[in-house]
Amino acid sequence: MTTTAQPTTTTSPRPLADLFDLTGRVAVLTGGSGLLGQQHASVLREAGARVFNLDLAAPAGEDDLPVDITDAASVQGALQTVLARAGRCDIVINNAANNPRVEDGMKGWSRFENLDVAAWDADLAVGLTGAFLVSQVFGTHLARSGGGVIVNVCSELGVIAPDQRLYRLPGVPDDEQPVKTVTYSVVKAGLIGMTRYLATYWADAGVRVNAISPGGVFNDQPAEFVAKLSDQVPLGRMARPDEMRGALAFLCSDASSYLNGHNLIVDGGRTVW
Ligand SMILES: NC(=O)c1ccc[n+]([C@@H]2O[C@H](COP(=O)([O-])OP(=O)(O)OC[C@H]3O[C@@H](n4cnc5c(N)ncnc54)[C@H](O)[C@@H]3O)[C@@H](O)[C@H]2O)c1
Repeated sequence: MTTTAQPTTTTSPRPLADLFDLTGRVAVLTGGSGLLGQQHASVLREAGARVFNLDLAAPAGEDDLPVDITDAASVQGALQTVLARAGRCDIVINNAANNPRVEDGMKGWSRFENLDVAAWDADLAVGLTGAFLVSQVFGTHLARSGGGVIVNVCSELGVIAPDQRLYRLPGVPDDEQPVKTVTYSVVKAGLIGMTRYLATYWADAGVRVNAISPGGVFNDQPAEFVAKLSDQVPLGRMARPDEMRGALAFLCSDASSYLNGHNLIVDGGRTVW
């Protein structure tokens, strides 16, 4: 039986700009040095948040913390640093993942028959164990200090299977054709599962947990790949790197205050076709 107070019917609506305002809030973002991570950081800063970037490859900015999210002690150290410097944490974004570019060719190692356990372990370590550790360390802090928001960056490939025909290269034997690894599907489907788990687990502590699932983002991939993928997208093109900004700002702010356990798919409609 829930003890949470019900809303009143007399509350006046908050202005739109206020709903997206993150002034005074502190965010931690994993993988903030990468293609999408830089966009996530910039939109949250634009909304007023202080953003700490937890990345192996962290540049030397004041709020860039060199952190290996697969290492529990490294993640604990990051929490202590964030609290010492900013005094609070309100938003946690699990964005880091191994995301090798299959479309450039992989000489067959990525095929299911050939994938070795070391590659499996490495991908799950970053994408799942890392997100687990960051959620455990920072999420526990959120739950004990009045609540907050966790956003897990998943993928359309957490919802549908990769179409391996997209990655085929001419003149390469079938058993050496590059493929998107099984680990990518497993990591992203697992993260969607963890999103639902935590959305209920910490709901009474005021922690909302949602996922964002981007579609393929244009990053100068080979023209043939871009054409084949675009053909599968109702909007007829890949995403621009900045096209996750609006959805991320929505998920991290009070604009999504009644959204919990959702996977927001931003894929130009690919998973609808
Ligand atoms: N780019 C796309 O087309 C696309 C599509 C759908 C989903 N996504 C997802 O979006 C997220 C970001 O993708 P991206 O394209 O920006 O990837 P990216 O490879 O550009 O960035 C990933 C970042 O994670 C960091 N990282 C890796 N291992 C780490 C570790 N152990 N500890 C800390 N940081 C670590 C890397 O240093 C890198 O800066 C990923 O989860 C990816 O799966 C990307």
